Amino acid sequence: MAAQSISPSDAEAHIAKIRHDKGLSENNPPGHNVADLENALTTLSEQLYQSSTHFLLELIQNADDNSYDSKVLPSVQFTYENGGLRVDCNEVGFSPRNVEALCRVGQSTKKGGDNATRYVGEKGIGFKSVFKAADIVWISSGHYSFKFDKSKPLGMIAPIWCDFPAPIKPGWTSLYLQLSKSYNRRGLLDELRSLDSRLLIFLRRIRSITISISESLRLPWKSSFFRAEIGKDLIRLTENNRTCDYIIRRHQAPTRFFTAYDKEISFKSLRQIAKDESTTESTARRWLKQRENMGILAYRHTRGRSGKLGKPSKVTKAMCKKLVDPARNPVRNQPYEAQIAYHKIPCKKRHLQHKLKEYTNGGQFYKCAFVKKEISARNKDERVAYAHKHKDKTMEDFWSYIFFTDEAHIDPSAQ
Ligand SMILES: Nc1ncnc2c1ncn2[C@@H]1O[C@H](COP(=O)(O)OP(=O)(O)OP(=O)(O)O)[C@@H](O)[C@H]1O
Ligand SMILES: [Mg+2]
Repeated sequence: MAAQSISPSDAEAHIAKIRHDKGLSENNPPGHNVADLENALTTLSEQLYQSSTHFLLELIQNADDNSYDSKVLPSVQFTYENGGLRVDCNEVGFSPRNVEALCRVGQSTKKGGDNATRYVGEKGIGFKSVFKAADIVWISSGHYSFKFDKSKPLGMIAPIWCDFPAPIKPGWTSLYLQLSKSYNRRGLLDELRSLDSRLLIFLRRIRSITISISESLRLPWKSSFFRAEIGKDLIRLTENNRTCDYIIRRHQAPTRFFTAYDKEISFKSLRQIAKDESTTESTARRWLKQRENMGILAYRHTRGRSGKLGKPSKVTKAMCKKLVDPARNPVRNQPYEAQIAYHKIPCKKRHLQHKLKEYTNGGQFYKCAFVKKEISARNKDERVAYAHKHKDKTMEDFWSYIFFTDEAHIDPSAQ
């Protein structure tokens, strides 16, 4: 049931009932349990996420999990003005179940079953992160209009029926955050300004994000991003009239298959379940085996893990054996570059050097035989000049430079 399908009086009565069910009424003063729960909620909202602007992502995630009418372009708008942040979204609106979940802790409406793959949210706590930034949060959705006031008993989960503090946008769900006095507004504005259009690549439903900032003594700032599907695996992102196209590679995760398998294996064959989940029986078997070995991690990994990082090398052991065999390698006495060119080995010199060392027994000694180091002309001249200068010296002269004492003196610069 969406927000529109509940009458204004029913919406108000619903909010009153939620408050009543929490034991909050005029003649019932809050007891210890309320104070304890409040403390726990404050800790949760403040320490759940390190960053004070994390709530922006939580609100975007909630917007992305929403339902949208097929006639609208799913959009979120952030508007900062006069120390308040307004968030508007053209979703179908809060259902009574959504409102109830929002007024609870850990009671997500997105948990379990087939929904696991359809929603990002699942813990039922993300929204509480707004209280790290805001003292009061107003919500207007369909006929619902209420606020959460952190300073009131159970303020983060007990809704208070009231008017929205700004003009409402018919057909849109709006949030208004009154930011705390101590909150770092500059950090929030920086974060809003740096939101990147590429965020839209990772969202499933949202196709447009708009950010408007109005600060006194500053020119208003606005930015808009759009995402358009221009092919099966191609999307176009537009950021303030600049466009960029992205190819999308989709990766099938086995989570949905596991859910279906656990539910239906008693009355359906594996082949049938695999087919219903658009995969093959052999892939399904592989996933099940992985789940047996890896447990819950298998829900995220679809490929077996290799102990080695990177791609397998194209230089095989047989190739290395051939290179060090004089009978099979006519260019055996040539440098690495010649080996690579002659045998058309698809790698760089260093890689071949490394593989030869790995695959040939003592290959590095062998290699010394054919690796002729190129020396520069200058180096060569210097060596020749040195040889000429010292050509008359005999071996005995060598010892005249060595002094025998009870200590060994070594000149490190001569090493
Ligand atoms: N914009 C929204 N429109 C409709 N329902 C919402 C909206 N935001 C929150 N809700 C409802 O409030 C519930 C709690 O939201 P919250 O963000 O705290 O948790 P969640 O999204 O379920 O999980 P997570 O903790 O992973 O974010 C949701 O399960 C949903 O039913
Ligand atoms: Mg959420």
